[in-house]
Amino acid sequence: MKEDSINALLNPKSIAIVGASATPGKIGYSVIKNLLESKFSGSIYPVNPKDDVILGLQNFKSVSEIPGPVEAAVIVVPAKYVPGVIDDCGKKGVKGLIIITSGFSEVGDIALEDQIVKQARSYGMRILGPNIVGTLTNSTKLNASFAPYLPLPGKASLITQSGALLIAIDAISYTRGVGFEKLISIGNMSDVDFADLITWLDGDPFTSCISLYIEGFKDGRRFIEACKKTNKPVIALKAGVSTHGAAAAASHTGSLAGSSKVYDAAFQQAGTLRATDLNNLFDRTLALSLQPTMKGENMLVLTNGGGVGVLATDAAEKYGVPLKFAPEDVQAELKKHMPDYGSAKNPVDMTGMAGNDWYYKTVKFSYAHSWVDGLVVLYCETAQTNPEEIAKSIHKAISESGVKEKPVTISFVGGERSDKAMRWLVENGIPTYNAPDLAVNAMAALREFHNLREIVNHKAYKSSSNGGVVARKIIAKARKDGRGALTEIESKQVFAAYDLPIAATQLSTSEDEAVALAKKVNFPVVMKIVSPQILHKSDAGGVKVNIKDEAGVRDAFKTIMVNTKNYKAEAEIHGIAVQEMAPWGTETIIGSVNDATFGPTVMFGLGGIFVEVLKDVTFRVAPISESQAAQMLDEIRGAPILNGARGEAPRDKKALADVLCKYAAMIYELQDEIAETDANPVLVYEDGKGVKVVDARIILKSK
Ligand code: ACO
Repeated sequence: MKEDSINALLNPKSIAIVGASATPGKIGYSVIKNLLESKFSGSIYPVNPKDDVILGLQNFKSVSEIPGPVEAAVIVVPAKYVPGVIDDCGKKGVKGLIIITSGFSEVGDIALEDQIVKQARSYGMRILGPNIVGTLTNSTKLNASFAPYLPLPGKASLITQSGALLIAIDAISYTRGVGFEKLISIGNMSDVDFADLITWLDGDPFTSCISLYIEGFKDGRRFIEACKKTNKPVIALKAGVSTHGAAAAASHTGSLAGSSKVYDAAFQQAGTLRATDLNNLFDRTLALSLQPTMKGENMLVLTNGGGVGVLATDAAEKYGVPLKFAPEDVQAELKKHMPDYGSAKNPVDMTGMAGNDWYYKTVKFSYAHSWVDGLVVLYCETAQTNPEEIAKSIHKAISESGVKEKPVTISFVGGERSDKAMRWLVENGIPTYNAPDLAVNAMAALREFHNLREIVNHKAYKSSSNGGVVARKIIAKARKDGRGALTEIESKQVFAAYDLPIAATQLSTSEDEAVALAKKVNFPVVMKIVSPQILHKSDAGGVKVNIKDEAGVRDAFKTIMVNTKNYKAEAEIHGIAVQEMAPWGTETIIGSVNDATFGPTVMFGLGGIFVEVLKDVTFRVAPISESQAAQMLDEIRGAPILNGARGEAPRDKKALADVLCKYAAMIYELQDEIAETDANPVLVYEDGKGVKVVDARIILKSK
């Protein structure tokens, strides 16, 4: 039923326009005019209480008066009339509502928006919008919108949260030569959201690539799941990347989590490519809609100009596909098609002497060679060559190579003649750009997408322990005591219940007990105050480290008690924790937040006192797979430190990744209880020697 309704929204065979108008300049007039001008072949029914005929079409006074079936209705009446129109549509058996009208949640009227969704659902109808431009489809010639014309035909479909941007993209499609099958305005997403549309587009034979302009999601996890399920490339341009809620955060992790970083993580996990800006969205859409992915890491660059070759080399490194020298046999063959002073390494510089024939031969050979996983062809306009002829030579070489599953991108740098040649190449299926770095970026996107998809469906680690039972008992006790956070000892008990390697810590309530515990865990020990009111223990003089003997324990016990009394006389003191003094290791931090859009989200980064200054942290939506944990360790700036920088032995990354997986599983399982957590520091030892969580903090969700 639901799928059927989305089909009716995007692919209707009959459509009513409620609020159709005979007055030029009104949106209700534009929609009818656009449907007629786009030559939509289905039935078009204008609905307006006054007229008999609108733009030559028979008008109906209400939807229920329409004689035949109506699959979709475009609604362009003022907001206050929309509920009445929905009832009319529901009774008629309309399946999908395209609500252009503004004046709902975007202006604060959430109640009206909720009401229309409820109403539509009661009839089994789905809503696209409200507050949208409409939807446009080239294959069915459907322009159910007030954007003036269908976009340049192509294989990409674009969904946008900004209606104004849809109209602009519609126009740009012609100037940039980037074609679209569909342009869909999603507006307030009161009902149909990105996930619904991505799922539908996955089954659309006319769409090869899905591009998105996103401002925000309501349910981030639905988005991730929908993207994971489609093998079609999804490219996202995310606007609004400022941090939110950081100031109010109670944990380190809370203050480091910004919507931007969590969105970055979510897109990775969804297997979704990012676009950095609108131009980049067009560039990447062009490549992904026309070319297969780059399956290996060898990119070969052919050029007739040293300068563009160097620019391409720089871009290759910047975008994560660094060039390697071509093997000897490849170089030997390429040498045949250049003067002595050319270079056959990589970039392959045929020099300005390269004409049609050299381009043809080098492209044909390189594209077919098994070493080459992706080919970038560059051309600088010269006085001796004709760009259009060069374009045709390249295209002929590609077509005659017999190779199919290998990507090629091109850059022509020059004037009008090059522009014309570029347009011809794009029309003939090869993404072509006016700068070498853009052709390389496009190839990098084809490589990145391949890499993203490789691990996107790896299974997330699932906890097999009964940690939940232990954890919930501890949490219930804290709640009973009226506390919003667990003490360090309780937090560590929860961590231990999930098999996380904690530094052994026990509570003492007297000097004698502290001495007995210290002897049990072995000297040297650390002693720390345990009080729900003292979160920053060091600031309160509540921590003593490297205590070597019984006298030291007794001394530390007294000093900590005095210090903390002075710091906060009213603080409730549970006692003093005695903890094994973990040997020095690389300081890292693991933590979590419960993100408003994506739910429980785990963080990893380099720890220590600079953590909030350097912000060298990365996030993933929990739970995570082993490969995602490994990615997290590799993608922080400080990754070389874990790999053993400056002669240090490599750290135990395997144990650390295992801890990350277990941590993510823990916060996912306890998401109904836990708001934020920190494990800081988490000390990482030499390879094979494991990891130790030295300090722990769990902040509960307020209930
Ligand atoms: N059933 C059928 N027709 C009706 C009904 C009804 N229940 N009630 C009114 N109508 C008719 C009207 O008679 C009128 O037709 P007419 O021109 O023959 O008189 C027509 O529907 C439109 O009604 P108006 O009251 O004239 O409203 P108007 O056209 O000024 O505005 C609109 C309606 C366009 C829906 C407006 O309320 C609105 O929401 N505008 C913003 C839309 C928008 O920009 N959306 C996209 C946002 S994205 C972006 O920024 C690009």
